[in-house]
Order: sequence, then C-alpha cells, then structure tokens
Amino acid sequence: MCGIFAYTGDRRAAGILIDGLRVLEYRGYDSAGIYTAGSPLAVRAVGTVRNVAEKVGGRLIGTSGIAHTRWATHGGPSEKNAHPHTDCSKKIWMVHNGIIENYKELRTRLALHGHVFASETDSEVLVHLIEEHMRALGNDFEQAVRTSLKEVTGTYGLAFMHADNPGVVMTARMGSPIVIGIGKGEYFVASDPTPILHHTKDVVYLNDGEFAVISKEGYSISTLDNALIERIPSTIEWDIDDVKKGGFEHFMLKETIEEPEVILNAIRGRLVVDEGLARLGGLREVADQLADIKRLVIVGCGSAYYAGVVGKYMLEEYAGIPAEVEVGSELRYRKMLFDKETAVLAISQSGETADTLAAIKEAQRKGVMTLGIVNAVGSTIARETDAGVYNHAGPEMGVASTKAFLSQLCVLALLTLFLGRQRGMSAVMGKRIAEEMLLLPGKVEVILNAREKIRAIAHKYGHARDFLYIGRKYNAPIAYEGALKLKEVSYIHAEGYGAGEMKHGPLAMIDEAFPTLAIAPKDSVYEKMISNMEEIRARKGRVIALATEGDMNIKEHADDVIYMPKTLEMLSPVLSVVPLQLFAYYVAVMRGFNVDRPRNLAKSVTVE
Ligand code: AGP
Repeated sequence: MCGIFAYTGDRRAAGILIDGLRVLEYRGYDSAGIYTAGSPLAVRAVGTVRNVAEKVGGRLIGTSGIAHTRWATHGGPSEKNAHPHTDCSKKIWMVHNGIIENYKELRTRLALHGHVFASETDSEVLVHLIEEHMRALGNDFEQAVRTSLKEVTGTYGLAFMHADNPGVVMTARMGSPIVIGIGKGEYFVASDPTPILHHTKDVVYLNDGEFAVISKEGYSISTLDNALIERIPSTIEWDIDDVKKGGFEHFMLKETIEEPEVILNAIRGRLVVDEGLARLGGLREVADQLADIKRLVIVGCGSAYYAGVVGKYMLEEYAGIPAEVEVGSELRYRKMLFDKETAVLAISQSGETADTLAAIKEAQRKGVMTLGIVNAVGSTIARETDAGVYNHAGPEMGVASTKAFLSQLCVLALLTLFLGRQRGMSAVMGKRIAEEMLLLPGKVEVILNAREKIRAIAHKYGHARDFLYIGRKYNAPIAYEGALKLKEVSYIHAEGYGAGEMKHGPLAMIDEAFPTLAIAPKDSVYEKMISNMEEIRARKGRVIALATEGDMNIKEHADDVIYMPKTLEMLSPVLSVVPLQLFAYYVAVMRGFNVDRPRNLAKSVTVE
C-alpha cells in the first residue's frame, strides 16, 4: 500500500521528507515523490526513493512539504502517475493512500469542465475537484477540501498543501490510517508511526471521517462538517524496527493477519448482492467475448497454480465452464491446442513470473484471448493480457505467499460469479454466493483469533521430518498449497495429496514419525475424509484434522483438531488455507529460520 509523510516546522523539509520515505519503503512501492512549499513543482521518480533524492539534490528549500511512496492501483508505475498530484493551477498539491471508487464519473465531469489530467490515477481527481470547488467557494481552500471529500466514495488517507498557504498541511482519513506526530514547534503526518518515530513519540490518530489542519503553531481536528474534536495525544511505545512490521515479528504473520482486510479489498465495489452479480470493471470490455468462451485454460506457478486448481473446481461447478490448469513451466513448452472458444487465464501476484508470462505470450501467438488475475498493477502480465482483475491486496513482502493467495481465491470466486451469471447460474445462487463472500472476513478473523491453538499444535508436530497434507475436491489443492507453505519456510519435506490417492501409494509412507494434516470440513466428501483418517491412524500415523466448528465427531478420528467456521463448499478454501499458513509460519519460527526470506527462494521468479 502507499505511504504518506508530511512535515511543517522550521527545518528544511526536503531532507526530512526523503528520510521519512526511506523508512516507509518497507510498505512496498514502485515510485515516489515530494513537494515542498515554495517549489514550483513536485519531484517524482519511478523506482526507489533514492531516485527522488538524487533528483532533488539541494534544490528544495521549503520548511513544509508532503511526500509519498506509491503502490500502483490505478495506472501503472510511472513518473506521471507518481504522487504528489496537482491541479491545473499547479497550486494545490496532494498525496493519497487508498482507492477513489467513483473516480471515473468525477474525472468525466471534471474533464467536461475543462480540467486537464496529467495521470491515469484515481487519486488525481481529488485535486481537480478541490480546484473546481475553490472557484465556487470564493477561493476558500479548506472549505473546498471539505466539500470535495464529501463527494468521493472509497478509501483515503490524504495530505494536502496550497502554494499560497505555505506551512499549512491539511489531512483527512477514510479507511486508510493517518497519524499526526507532535514535535516541538514542528508537526508530522504519516500513514503509520514509522517515519514519525525518528522525531517524536507523541502522536494523535485520526479516525474515519476526520480532518485536520496543521501548521508549526499547532493542529486542529474536526469532522468534515467542521465540528471540532478534542483528541488526547498518545505515546508510541514501539521502537523503529518493531513498527516497520506493524508490531509483528515477520511480514508473513503480518500479511496473514491482514487477510480479512484483503478479502474486503478484493470484493469492494465488485458485488451486487441483491442481483447475485459480480461487477468486474477490468472485464467489462471483453464481457461479450467471455459469454461465448467454452473452455478456460488457467496458468500459474507455485501457489498461483494451486489457486487456479481451486478456481477450476469453482468454474466447472458453478459457471459450467470446462477448465484445465497448467503450470507455466509446462504449458509454455507444450503443443497448446486452443481454438477461438478458449481463453487463457494467468494468475500471478507479481505479474512478472517468467514461465507464466511465456505461456501467455505463446497463447497470444495462437490468437487466444488472455486474461490476468494480478496483484502488481502495471506489471508485465497485467499489461500483456487482454483484460483482467487486480487483487488490490497491497504489496506482499514475505516470499511465501499468504494474503495474495487468499485474494486470488476471492477473485476466482468473483470470476465464477461473473461468468456463471452469464450462463446458467440463477440469481438466487448468485446472491447466496455473494452473501457468503461478505461473511468471509469475519470468518477468517475467527481463525486468526484462535492462532495460539495452531501455534501449540505446530510446536507439537514441528520436529517431524516429513509431513503429508490431504484433502478432497476444493480442498485437494489446499492440501498441495499447505504442503508448499511448510516446505518453503520450514524446509520440511511435505507432500500434498488428493486423499483418494492414499491407497494408490502414499499410505505406504505412514508410520508414527510421518504425521498427516487432513482437511475435513463438513462438506460433500466429509465421510470419505474420515475414512482416510481412519486408515492412517490404523497404521499408527498421527492426524491433525482441520474441521468445521461444532464437529465433535471428528475428535474420535484425529490426534488434534483445528476448527474453522462453516461456509459454502466452493468458498471453504478461503478459510482452510489460513490455519495452514499459520501452521507453517509457527513451525518455521520454532525451527529458527528466516521466515520472510527462506533460503534459495525469491519473491518473484522472473527467470526460467
Ligand atoms: C508461493 O508461496 C511462492 N512464493 C511461489 O510459489 C509463488 O506463488 C510463485 O512463484 C508464483 O509467483 P507469482 O504469483 O508472482 O507469479
């Protein structure tokens, strides 16, 4: 996600802002920029904060300013899309963290009024909207900001300045955190306490719907309707390193804990619950072509591939579309047999995985429609494919995919809804799926709140040399994914298997030293899973069962049980993968490995 930092005081702002952006780098970003009072323009650059610092040199002399690290959501990484953004007059400057959902209609209206846009971002509409309102409000900048914020829908953490009012920073929050740092004769605004900690530990946090005006003399907080708010400052106890990971020891845990919010970000603005529809803006232009597709070939690598296997089950059962799933490293070399009624869907968090990209290019050479489910906006796969859906999961810093994988499952469920309602899926079924998707964040929260139980089980089994993960139907790919997580971060040899395969070989491995994690929710294959657990325990194999809360029967068939809430069978992978991510994490921490940077692995495999 993006990072915001602003300063007003008596010191030179440029150096303070650049240092603050360097501290915010941990949030993940693809471009950055700063504006300081008295400068005619902002300084922005693609890539690292260092690129901005080199462009700034010693030129910027103002003692107040705003700065930003951008994680692209609308409009790829580029200098023109980097923040701060400005209006036509080049007097209003703004940095934004979040998503303006109604930016298209605002942009259309403002363009009709003669506003010229310099970027492809959603954020830029805000400065032109403020400029528009200033004209109608007698040049009252503060009132124009307040009025404009009432018009936007979506999420924001913002900092604004006006060139005619140097030293004054305005900030507002709706859905994206904002914290104000209180120094001695100087003040700071940031997306999180990290960059402020270098200067002061005294802060106040804004709540959603609140607005603040800050100068070196002080600050005032109010609602958008100008009702004053008294807020007692608090003192941050954390030190700088802790705060970088939001107080968590590792990014992998932080990103797993973020998963309820990640689900919300994946589905936000994309469900029309009453009609049981999914609204996917990135597919709008190809919707008619997609209605004629008779076959989907899904391609991905690693976890993305396993997400694709879950998607296959969803699409076949609920959209009636035959789907096959291939790893990129195989598909790219195979004789791909496609026809005009085939579409190829790439799943990739980074959007840069070489094997997946190669498969997409090969498909395009054969004239096939290509789609993408990608997290990194503006990445190669996002740009190469004909259409697609972004995850909006924010940057994933841990090498082992957690929140991105969960987001991929959610987007695949949205795609299933989108394609299914083009085909035979009823509005009733669509509504049922949509309603259940809205409940998923709370259900994931239940699992996360019980993570101490998972940690205890991880410590009990974490010394095993080998591990078997088994599941059926929707949870067979989750067994593969769970095994991959354990392999990646704890280096244990772990295998994922369709449980029905046990008698065809894997059962021979089982003994008391070879534990099994069985994914056995109360679904259409529950009884089969119980039988598998029985055949394992009959051979002295220990079993950890992943079960539906309230299922007391399963205790007779397992040595340990991890419970999760009930949901629709097609959505159960969204819940069942979370305990497996946590299990792998706690085993790896117990074994003392570098959880976020496992040996031999890279976050994005951009080479063959
Ligand atoms: C997942 O934990 C791994 N880090 C890896 O398997 C990853 O999913 C795979 O490399 C694909 O990456 P992508 O989603 O960026 O294409």
